Amino acid sequence: MLVASRHGAHPRRRRAGGNGVADELALPLAGGLALLLAFVTAAAVLSGGDRREEGDRRRPDLPGGAAGPRVAIFSAPLPPPDSSPARQELAVRSWLALPGNVSVVLLAAHPSAHALAGRLGGRVTVDAAIDISFTGTPFFHSIVARAQAADSDICVLVDAEIILLPETITLLKHFSRSDLDWLVFSASRNISAFPYHLVDNGTQWADEHGKQVSFKKGMPVSRDTLSPNNVSFDDCHFGTQCFQQVTKVKSRIVLKILRLGYNVLLSDVDVYWFHNPVSFLHSLGPGTFAAQSDEFNQTGPINMPRRLNSGFYYARSDDATITAMEMIVKHATNSGLSEQPSFYDILCGKDGANRIGDDRCLEPSTNLTIVFLSRDMFPNGAYGGLWEKKHGVSSACRELGCVIIHNNWVNGRRKKLHRQMASGLWDYDPGSRLCLQNWSNASRFSVQTDDPVSYDS
Ligand SMILES: *[C@@H]1O[C@H](CO)[C@@H](O)[C@H](O)[C@H]1NC(C)=O
Ligand SMILES: *[C@@H]1O[C@H](CO)[C@@H](O)[C@H](O)[C@H]1NC(C)=O
Ligand SMILES: *[C@@H]1O[C@H](CO)[C@@H](O)[C@H](O)[C@H]1NC(C)=O
Ligand SMILES: *[C@@H]1O[C@H](CO)[C@@H](O)[C@H](O)[C@H]1NC(C)=O
Ligand SMILES: *[C@@H]1O[C@H](CO)[C@@H](O)[C@H](O)[C@H]1NC(C)=O
Ligand SMILES: *[C@@H]1O[C@H](CO)[C@@H](O)[C@H](O)[C@H]1NC(C)=O
Ligand SMILES: *[C@@H]1O[C@H](CO)[C@@H](O)[C@H](O)[C@H]1NC(C)=O
Ligand SMILES: *[C@@H]1O[C@H](CO)[C@@H](O)[C@H](O)[C@H]1NC(C)=O
Repeated sequence: MLVASRHGAHPRRRRAGGNGVADELALPLAGGLALLLAFVTAAAVLSGGDRREEGDRRRPDLPGGAAGPRVAIFSAPLPPPDSSPARQELAVRSWLALPGNVSVVLLAAHPSAHALAGRLGGRVTVDAAIDISFTGTPFFHSIVARAQAADSDICVLVDAEIILLPETITLLKHFSRSDLDWLVFSASRNISAFPYHLVDNGTQWADEHGKQVSFKKGMPVSRDTLSPNNVSFDDCHFGTQCFQQVTKVKSRIVLKILRLGYNVLLSDVDVYWFHNPVSFLHSLGPGTFAAQSDEFNQTGPINMPRRLNSGFYYARSDDATITAMEMIVKHATNSGLSEQPSFYDILCGKDGANRIGDDRCLEPSTNLTIVFLSRDMFPNGAYGGLWEKKHGVSSACRELGCVIIHNNWVNGRRKKLHRQMASGLWDYDPGSRLCLQNWSNASRFSVQTDDPVSYDS
């Protein structure tokens, strides 16, 4: 929860019709937050202060300016056994690892808070002047009062076991550029274990194996050591030796992820999504591997030799799929081609010996069924001349009922880029490095889980 910081001045009166957002939200929120805090809440509460007086449009020390806003993080850690000192320490270390000018104030009178501050260095202080209830729970109004007295641009009130990732500061900077008072309330995800720890003197996150990770949009991102690092920008398109090396990395990483127990949807960056394909792909069931067909012929079977496109497929984390992927990776490692032919030759057999009907294969040693996806729903870049349609690929696709379309069957990076941008299927903002597609309907992106197994029968 957030409260405008006040520099020790008198609490600002609410202005009639004013923009004192923080003032207006602080009271109604208070009751709820106190409750949440009492339950050791998973709520991070952020406070931003606009310290200007009304009418003063100058902002000599604009928060978010060159120096960045000064951020004071307030937390009221409970002593053990009501909390875990280890989890508290990881959380506070994560706050200190945030980029920028961050200080931490622990609002507590018990010795474990002093011990924690002692382990973490000068940017962590303990403020014992806090009112507590007879059960030891700090009073919310007292926490807010300490925050309001802080000499900082932004106050953050956060539960002592909540880990803050570096992009928290990006968010705060974003809001601090606003001319308005603001308050951000955030519910955090509840996780039982956080498998990352801080290295490099508390400035970098690393995973269990010591590999460095960054967090982008809340997701851990790491560089795979198998990936070539001499990838050419212009000369890594289909057919080049670089392409062969890079594509082989994909199936190796997919296999690693499958072994961790996750289903994988692999979608090359030249695949445009009109709808979320996951629920359909998942509905094909276990023991099924679904892939795009690269067949360009309008009619006839879609599972002919070498017509499996490995740029769009759905692989489930089951034994049959994992074994088959191991075979593909092994085959690709020893092949002088890209990895795509390995997918077909392993799954459908040489010359299509494992074909079943016009759109399937059955891999005999694993019983994995390979489904070639309908090209009306999952067209490749040659099918139906969709990319060349007069009224645009978008409307042609909507008529056909496409879920996705692949911008393949075009040679060279520039031609591919041109076809993608000229078609209007280019929802990318280079500034934020985000896709602009409106995915706000989150229900379309729910995690797919199998139906619960019934043990009744
Ligand atoms: C978070 O998860 C743990 C373990 O599953 C549970 O004990 C705890 O009550 C949860 N906390 C909240 C705030 O949901
Ligand atoms: C960080 O903020 C504190 C006050 O909160 C200030 O004294 C200090 O100079 C700032 N440090 C930097 C590097 O800006
Ligand atoms: C680690 O960080 C502390 C506090 O920021 C600093 O005093 C110390 O010099 C750093 N040590 C190294 C090896 O960078
Ligand atoms: C990249 O490095 C690999 C391994 O060292 C080498 O075989 C390949 O030729 C290099 N590719 C380019 C484009 O330099
Ligand atoms: C396309 O399919 C039709 C019907 O199956 C077949 O007669 C024709 O030879 C195929 N063309 C190519 C180029 O494969
Ligand atoms: C594949 O299916 C056949 C026939 O149902 C069965 O005999 C064989 O054991 C199965 N193989 C595997 C690896 O499950
Ligand atoms: C995205 O779609 C939702 C409805 O699904 C709508 O409320 C929202 O305003 C849209 N956002 C943008 C940026 O278009
Ligand atoms: C969001 O998706 C659900 C499920 O696909 C759909 O029923 C609902 O109408 C969608 N809402 C909007 C605003 O698009």
